[in-house]
Order: sequence, then structure tokens, then C-alpha cells
Amino acid sequence: MSERPPKGPSGGDLLAAARHAAAGGALVLAAEALGRRVPAGRGAALPLGVVGALAGAGVWAGRRAETRVRRLQREVARARREDAGAAQDRVLAALRGLDARAQRLERVGARLERAAEREGVRGERREDRQAKQAAKRLTDLRRSLREVEERLGDRVRAEAATSFAQTEALLNLLCLVSPRSALPATRGWAASPDLLLTYVSEVLAAPPGTDVLELGSGTSTLWAAYALEVRGGEGRVLALDHDERFLERTRAALERHGLAARAEVRHAPIEDLEVAGGTQPWYAVRALEGVSGLGVVLVDGPIGSMHPRSRYPALPLLRDRLVPGAVVLLDDAGRPEERELVDDWAREHPELSVEHLGHEKGTSLLRVPRT
Ligand SMILES: C[S@@+](CC[C@H](N)C(=O)[O-])C[C@H]1O[C@@H](n2cnc3c(N)ncnc32)[C@H](O)[C@@H]1O
Repeated sequence: MSERPPKGPSGGDLLAAARHAAAGGALVLAAEALGRRVPAGRGAALPLGVVGALAGAGVWAGRRAETRVRRLQREVARARREDAGAAQDRVLAALRGLDARAQRLERVGARLERAAEREGVRGERREDRQAKQAAKRLTDLRRSLREVEERLGDRVRAEAATSFAQTEALLNLLCLVSPRSALPATRGWAASPDLLLTYVSEVLAAPPGTDVLELGSGTSTLWAAYALEVRGGEGRVLALDHDERFLERTRAALERHGLAARAEVRHAPIEDLEVAGGTQPWYAVRALEGVSGLGVVLVDGPIGSMHPRSRYPALPLLRDRLVPGAVVLLDDAGRPEERELVDDWAREHPELSVEHLGHEKGTSLLRVPRT
């Protein structure tokens, strides 16, 4: 009897079919389980565990199916040798069973895919996460923006209030004196109008014939000279400056305004000075020779960067040169170092009254009693 060649699928076909069916079988089980939990069309989110379950079940089912396929391949080989017809029937029956399971899987898989698409399950999750991150970033940005707005608002309001106060002070200054030419800028390194208004007012009110001393020359020297001119009679302003460039500028401005007779700008280099048991830089004391009968002193130098107590020596050195009723004005009194030295002055000279004026840069006003 000649050997009959086996009909039906080859071993390779069987293996591919079995792999497909195995994965399908696992997914069918999982999908069925899911199908019971997620009714079609209701679109609940897929639990993450299901994906793991599907993968695990797929591996397990794959192994089982490969075992079965190897068995089928052995049967095909046996059919080739022996009763091919009977073996082939068994193989075909087995394949039909696997195929039916694969078809069920495809239907359930398609159903799940449609449900996922309909509800946008996976997309919705990613979008949800992105939306949450974007919302958080937006909230943080809004908070920062509010803080910046508040700080900026506070600064703008403060600056507007200060600017108005300075403009108002400048207008009032022009009621007290009438400059003949444009004056150097105020604020910044120079005295601000609020201090200048107090300064000019004090010069106007100072006892007749008294002089004015300025430590640190500039625009303030011109206002003092104008005030002395308005007050009339004797009285000059002496301004010390350690820096000859600024001294020359002030001198030229005094000339331009026709105030040279009312003011003197004197060079006073910075030197070491023995004061209050220590040594610190200050104007050369010889620059004070002949200075007495002071009605007003403006302490606006030496510059703070030279020494934390750069302005301290003024009062110890000048106290005896102040007339009754004289005032000492300290600029930049808002700085902690200046506040500290005013406290020292007040302690060392309890006879002086002390006032802190709420000026732009802070002004301390110390007054000698009139009697
Ligand atoms: C606070 S300033 C005196 C300002 C002066 N009382 C006024 O109202 O214009 C103290 C010293 O700083 C120096 N100075 C003035 N303007 C300056 C500037 N723009 N840059 C650097 N130093 C300056 C001068 O030597 C001045 O004596």
C-alpha cells in the first residue's frame, strides 16, 4: 500500500494558529471577565490590573497552547506514518475548537476596542493628567503673578505717594525762595525736597545773624544760600566737601545763581579722627577753623560707605558751636547705622530734643533748647 500524504494544515500553520488562539484564549477569559464588570456602552475606565492580568494570562495560555500544538504536530507526523485519516480528523477537530475560541476573542476584542474608542478611556486619562498638571502650573503662575502684582502695586503706590510729597515740597520751597536759574537735581545723592523744605524753613527761622554749616555740598548749598538771602542780614553757609570735583560743581552753581557772597565751599579731605575712644575717617578738623555761631547744621556727609558711623563725629565736634535754638538735621536717618548714631547723640546730649521726620530718606532733627 502506497503511503497517503496527509491532507489539512501543515505543522507551521498549526503553530501559528495555536499561538493566535492561545493569546486569544487568554484575552477571551480576561475580556469576558471585564465584560461582566464593564457593561458595553457604559464606558468605565479600564482598571490597570486588567492589563497585567491579560499579559499574564496570555503567557500562561501561550505555553499551554504550544504544548498542545507540539502534541498535534506529533499526531500529524504519526498520521503520516500510520492512520493518517484518523489522526487528521482529530487534528482538524482540535483546530476547529481553537478557531472558534479565536473568533470569540476577535468579537470581544473588537467590542472592547469600540467601547474604549467611544469613551476615549486611555486618551481621557492622559489628557486628565496633562490637564491637572497644566491647571497646577496655572494656579502657581496665578499665585506668583498676584504676589508680583501686590508687591509692584505697593511699590507703585509708595512711589506715587513719595513723588507727590516731593513735588508738593518743591512747590512749597518755591513759595519760600525764588531761584534765579535752574537748580541741580534733588533726590538720590542730593537732598530730597522734603528735607530741603525743612532745611530752608529752619534757616529762615534761625536766630538772625547765625551761620549755616553743611557737611557734604551740593544742591542743598544753593537752597541754604537762597534762604539766607531771603532772611537777610548777616549769615553765610559754609559747605565742606572731601571731593574737589563735587566741590567745584557746587562752587560754579553758586556763581551762576549769584550766591557766591552767601556761601563758601571748603575742601576738607578725609582724615583719621580720634573720637569717642576710637579712630575713624572724617573731614580734616582744621576745615572747621573759625566756625561758630551756627543756627543750622545739615549733616549729609561723609558718605556712608566710608564708615558705618561716618557721620557720628559731627555732634561731638560741633555741639559747642551751636547757638541756643539751633538745629542739627541728619539726612539718611532711615538707615540703621544713622538711627544708631542718633541714639548715641541723644544719650550723650540729653539736653537736645530729638525728632524723626518721615521724609523720603528719613531725617532726624535735634534741637538745642532756646535758653
Ligand atoms: C550725600 S552727598 C551730599 C549731597 C548734598 N548735600 C546735596 O544735597 O546735593 C555727600 C557727598 O557725596 C559726594 N557726591 C555727591 N554727589 C555724588 C554722586 N553723584 N556720586 C558720588 N558721590 C557724590 C560729594 O562729595 C558729597 O559731598
